Amino acid sequence: MNNEKLIKEDLAHIWHPCSQMKDYETLPLIPIKKGRGVYIEDYDGNIYIDAISSWWVNLFGHTNPYIAKKIKKQVDRLEHIIFAGFSHKPIIKLSKRLINLMPKNINKCFYADNGSSAVEVALKMSFHYYKNQGKKRLHFVSLTNSYHGETLGAMSVSDVGLYKEPYKEMMMTPIHTPVPYQISKKSAIAKAGELEKIFQQNPDNICALIVEPLVQCAGSMNMYHPLYLKLAYKLCKKYDIHFIADEIAVGFGRTGTMFAFEQAKITPDFICLSKGITGGFLPLAVVLTTDEIYGKFYCDYSEGKSFLHSHSYTGNPIACAAANATLDIFEKNNVIKKNLKKIKYIKNSVKKFQNLSNVKEVRQTGMITAIELKGYEPQTRIGLNVYQYALKNGVLLRPLGNIIYFMPPYVIKKNEIDKMINVAYEAIKSI
Ligand SMILES: Cc1ncc(COP(=O)(O)O)c(C=O)c1O
Repeated sequence: MNNEKLIKEDLAHIWHPCSQMKDYETLPLIPIKKGRGVYIEDYDGNIYIDAISSWWVNLFGHTNPYIAKKIKKQVDRLEHIIFAGFSHKPIIKLSKRLINLMPKNINKCFYADNGSSAVEVALKMSFHYYKNQGKKRLHFVSLTNSYHGETLGAMSVSDVGLYKEPYKEMMMTPIHTPVPYQISKKSAIAKAGELEKIFQQNPDNICALIVEPLVQCAGSMNMYHPLYLKLAYKLCKKYDIHFIADEIAVGFGRTGTMFAFEQAKITPDFICLSKGITGGFLPLAVVLTTDEIYGKFYCDYSEGKSFLHSHSYTGNPIACAAANATLDIFEKNNVIKKNLKKIKYIKNSVKKFQNLSNVKEVRQTGMITAIELKGYEPQTRIGLNVYQYALKNGVLLRPLGNIIYFMPPYVIKKNEIDKMINVAYEAIKSI
């Protein structure tokens, strides 16, 4: 079996996500046979460093033996149980551990099975919370350039036109507030001022502000200062509006702390987690919230205030076993502290990109680094040249337009960081 044969069979029946299928005529699919650590290997024997953690999900390497072992154990014990009316040990253990990682007011976990669904849960809960108190609030505020997922509600509060434009007529009407475009306090203060103007207009009609804390990943890896979170949060409290932290991409250490919101020392009303929660093995998502919010739904069934949202695979036991194994690794290996060294090493190594005439900016927040190119029209899709060059040289990058970024698994070693960065550097130099 080689790449060519599998590609043919794949394209006969499979419609891939986030793809213009015609692109595969010139940019062939790559069927992957196996993965180990930061490496993946295709059916022609080509080996690549996965510099993007396979859609930002992988934390401790592909087929991480410890997580794999824990999953195998769970598979033979309990593979699935309906999560209404029933429970299981892995999810009870996981919930306790997640709550222990949170600020003290966060005390409840509501599970789902993917990031977009977690965002739907948070939006619905926020709306319903006010409704249960006889308040009709119809709007959400989100940041310009934001991305919160592909389902209709999540997409409504997103602002990345590429994904949203065809469905615009179907959306709830969001209110977008300008995001800071620099990692500076000045920009944070200015944009918080803009947010206050929105809140002042009609606070009683706004359920929540939803943000991707510190890094808007799908939005060209735009990064901003924690001060913005702090100020935005203060405004939410002042105007009695919920604060939703969508940590689906940035949670579990990506920004240098376990959760990005920690850097602003705030306690969001809702925290959405997914992606890295299982170390990248299985789909799982959770929305964490306060006892106060939970309390507004807690009453006799006949009062009609119940939150009846569910998904068939909510809180799947195998996924929870993977999540518990992932948290074991964080605890045992002191990952957040150890990553600091890698963050510093990457920071020093990417300085050289500034010398390239087609590089506009290099920015970094924790384990996420982005290199923004300049001088290219969007239709040239210049990132694809970098993608192809890097693949030929053994690195999987997945540029977002003219943004080349690194978001590697945390197990990446110095020599692998060097290779990832050098290949990207040569790729950018060559275009
Ligand atoms: C910040 C953020 N929110 C939500 C989502 C949606 O998650 P999922 O792709 O699991 O639906 C993503 C996915 O990239 C994301 O980056």
